[in-house]
Amino acid sequence: MLRIWGKQPLHGQVKISGAKNSALVVMAGTLLCSDDCLLRNVPSLVDVARMGDILSALGVKIQRQGDTLAIDASHIGQSEAPYELVSQLRASFFVIGPLLARLGSARVPLPGGCAIGARPVDLHVRGLQAMGADVQIEHGTVFASVRGGKQRLQGARIYLDCPSVGATETLMMAATLAEGETILENAAQEPEVVDLANFCRAMGAQIRGAGTNTIVISGVPRLHSTDYSIIPDRIEAGTFLVAGAITHSEISLLSVVPNHLNAVVAKLRAMGADVVADAPDQLRLIPNRQYRATDIKTLPFPGFPTDMQAPFMSLLTLSEGNSVISETVFENRMRHVAELSRMGADITVKSNLAIIRGVPTLSGAPVVATDLRASAALILAGLAADGVTTIQELQHLDRGYDNLEGKLQGLGAKLMRVAGEATAPEPNAVEAAVSAVTSGAPLTGLP
Ligand code: UD1
Repeated sequence: MLRIWGKQPLHGQVKISGAKNSALVVMAGTLLCSDDCLLRNVPSLVDVARMGDILSALGVKIQRQGDTLAIDASHIGQSEAPYELVSQLRASFFVIGPLLARLGSARVPLPGGCAIGARPVDLHVRGLQAMGADVQIEHGTVFASVRGGKQRLQGARIYLDCPSVGATETLMMAATLAEGETILENAAQEPEVVDLANFCRAMGAQIRGAGTNTIVISGVPRLHSTDYSIIPDRIEAGTFLVAGAITHSEISLLSVVPNHLNAVVAKLRAMGADVVADAPDQLRLIPNRQYRATDIKTLPFPGFPTDMQAPFMSLLTLSEGNSVISETVFENRMRHVAELSRMGADITVKSNLAIIRGVPTLSGAPVVATDLRASAALILAGLAADGVTTIQELQHLDRGYDNLEGKLQGLGAKLMRVAGEATAPEPNAVEAAVSAVTSGAPLTGLP
């Protein structure tokens, strides 16, 4: 359980870690390479460890030193990913493309639904079929093999019904080793797709157009070893920008790519905060005393990211006026609303729309994190709320934020992990705890 003492101002600098969603897919992408690869700037996350377990189960050798992974996929012992591991990490379905491209067959269990929606994989499957794969789904497992006993997939022209990040990545990886040219139309343009393309190109793949809606891949017979650094995490960066805004604190972010944050920065400015670039990889959040309401629609990149929807909602709860958030990417991504309401937020949800009426203040309360980005939203709300907030189900947070509480503590926030039930502490204990945290005295005797 995480306990947060709200209303503490933040100050200073924070270094943003490597992008979770890049690291996971690039790790899967190392299966394409019959040499070893070095991946740098890999964040320290439970999801990354799980992807490592899946690669290990396939016979890949992995060593971690600091933020660098040495991955040797020269010998893949088997083409079947174990269900116990896949079911814990949706992104592990990514291994299907590289396994099929490299070995000619793959067996990967369906990852199943998740807290934010059904998340089907039909676009991945249809694209692989267009590239000459036989795909059968039996007993919850996808069996894919290159049709007609051939060794390599065939290049194809594939139109994606929606610009799915995962399907674009699966098909791009599969196409790197296919025979001939693959054209992906209506492809996802997310920075993580570009990062994967750059990683594959560093291994010798021929890819043009990543970052636009048409990606062209000319297959090559073999990819070679590389040393590659993962891009910074734009969602972690966006979360810290909101942390600065919601606590009315000027803070600086190091190791960011400002262009990846344009939609988030535009919304912060629309609300009355400012963001300035002090260096090409450094942003500073300049807060305001009061924020204006604004409407947000989540969209594929370069639109407003769905992963920032929940964190931004926390800021909108405290703005002046009414805001509407329209979630168009996932169908069930409003579960944080009930928890924010427990803290005094005034939000009405109608299907994928949330209407947020700004309130002057939030009050600390025991809440439960329902998914990864919801946990970030609740931490942000807790930083701004009166009194103490306790957040349970931190396993969601640990999946995708690299030491969020340590980084917030470094900025001056008062929060700590504690064991036990989420009961509201007595008010005098709150004051004692805040002054203990401020003074560095040991936190004993807390309820
Ligand atoms: C990735 C990110 C996730 C982010 C999302 C959208 C990773 C590990 N996760 O998820 O953090 O929130 O992009 O930016 O990179 N869809 C289909 N059929 C498919 C595939 C997707 O209908 O075969 C639908 C999904 O249900 C969803 C929409 O397309 O409604 C977008 O999903 P997608 O872009 O594929 O997201 P993910 O790759 O799962």
